[in-house]
Amino acid sequence: MKKFYLTTPIYYVNGAPHIGHAYTSIAADVLARWQRLDGFEVFFLTGTDEHGQKVEKAAAEAGLDTQRFTDRVAEDFRAMAAAMGVSNDDFIRTTEERHKRACIALWERLVANDAIYLGHYEGWYAVRDEAFYGEDELVTTPDGTRLAPTGAPVEWVREPSYFFRLSAWQEKLLAFYEQNPDFIAPVARRNEVLSFVRSGLTDLSVSRTSFTWGIPVPGDPAHVMYVWLDALTNYITAAGFPDEADPRWRFWPADLHIVGKEIVRFHAVYWPAMLMAAGIAPPRRIYSHGWWTVEGEKMSKSLGNVIDPRELVGEFGLDPLRYFLLREVPFGNDGDFSRRALITRLNGELANDLGNLAQRTLSLIARHCEGRLPALGESTPADAALREAAARLPALLRERIARLAFHEALEEAWKTVRAANAYIDHQAPWALRKTDLVRMNTVLRVLADTLRVIATVLQPFMPASMARLLDQLGVPEDARDLAALAEALPAGAPLPPPSGIFPRFVEPAG
Ligand code: ME8
Ligand code: MG
Repeated sequence: MKKFYLTTPIYYVNGAPHIGHAYTSIAADVLARWQRLDGFEVFFLTGTDEHGQKVEKAAAEAGLDTQRFTDRVAEDFRAMAAAMGVSNDDFIRTTEERHKRACIALWERLVANDAIYLGHYEGWYAVRDEAFYGEDELVTTPDGTRLAPTGAPVEWVREPSYFFRLSAWQEKLLAFYEQNPDFIAPVARRNEVLSFVRSGLTDLSVSRTSFTWGIPVPGDPAHVMYVWLDALTNYITAAGFPDEADPRWRFWPADLHIVGKEIVRFHAVYWPAMLMAAGIAPPRRIYSHGWWTVEGEKMSKSLGNVIDPRELVGEFGLDPLRYFLLREVPFGNDGDFSRRALITRLNGELANDLGNLAQRTLSLIARHCEGRLPALGESTPADAALREAAARLPALLRERIARLAFHEALEEAWKTVRAANAYIDHQAPWALRKTDLVRMNTVLRVLADTLRVIATVLQPFMPASMARLLDQLGVPEDARDLAALAEALPAGAPLPPPSGIFPRFVEPAG
């Protein structure tokens, strides 16, 4: 069986999960579900990043023991993933024993390969980003405060530190990017990485001594490992590292790490260099998506506009939210979340276009075909055109989803939804009831078959609603993958009574 390993970032447990985290996890989930539908054996990983100064500080501010604090927030992230319908196969926490073991093993391999040495770090550090910055990267505000390029406050750090010999990897990384032109996408991110690496790499500080919330460096427990070395390792921990006999190890290298654009450098530069230095294959691909704002503003605790995706699910339903997030903004671009835009898509594209198509077709079948799947009679050019459009959908979506062009995949499906709506209006099966029953049956059957394809390919985006639609179309549970579309359903199969799948959203009065 073809294998596919994909990951989300592991999220910091310094605060509650929000719509940005939900977005990455939902996008990854759509891909994971699509690959399963397309016959792949999938390993889909998400989880939480629990060490480092930022988390230690958040726990202290909450007045809680650090481990207890991380237990609580990690549980909230796990619950968020479940509430978003995320079908992850594993959930990793960096405070787990299996992860400590993997980090220690990786560290020891790096030491054995002379990729790590003890030195002294002196420079700028931003706790919010858990990142070191060069003097030249800082920006100075009008009042003279120096900030990281991300706007995060920086502090001067001076301490003994282990270093990873990143500088030795500049040419090898450039050759690697050259040989693997798809390693970083989209291309704008690739270009940023290339220019960063071409501008010269310095050795990377990979341990800290000024706090203790981390994994102790083997043989030198005054140091804890740098949180990014620890965090990136999660992707191999979950695949069983260092136990190469683990059944999951065959999933490595990961096919895809999906990340937000602010953490591309860690994934596309540090991570492959560390892996290659340890003699481990680098991942196949890093795909970076853009950044969401909310009603035009950056999300922040101080603005009080941080959105809990679970509240949106409560208000609009899960599938409309999933649909909106992937339809509204091309993956890779920045986007803005607005209630109005969500409501417009929910009422227009889901309730009107797809929901009404299904409701009209299924209620005509219920009323005029004794609730049984009608038989196909002789085919007209209009029938053939719609059937062909539907038949092309799996390949069209496969190509777009492989490029993570989720919005294009949805647009392809909607072209067929719109074609089916035009077809039903034009064929008017309700009128055929009195003039030509065979023809009425054929038209309704063409529509039912078209809806089956549409519902099948949309399952990864809207799992629960499409399952309900497939139920109503009489598609058995073992005939819902892409391969099953090759076989037509038998005419005469009884269908359950239809019921609407996408209620219109009406803004509550007041
Ligand atoms: O960076 N728009 O964790 P993190 C879109 N622990 N995506 C967003 C977003 C927004 N406004 N806000 C967050 C870390 N995200 C590290 C990762 S991986 C080995 C370690 C998403 O909690 C996006 O995927 O800051 C981003 O990269 C991720 O959450 C950052 O989560
Ligand atoms: Mg962040």
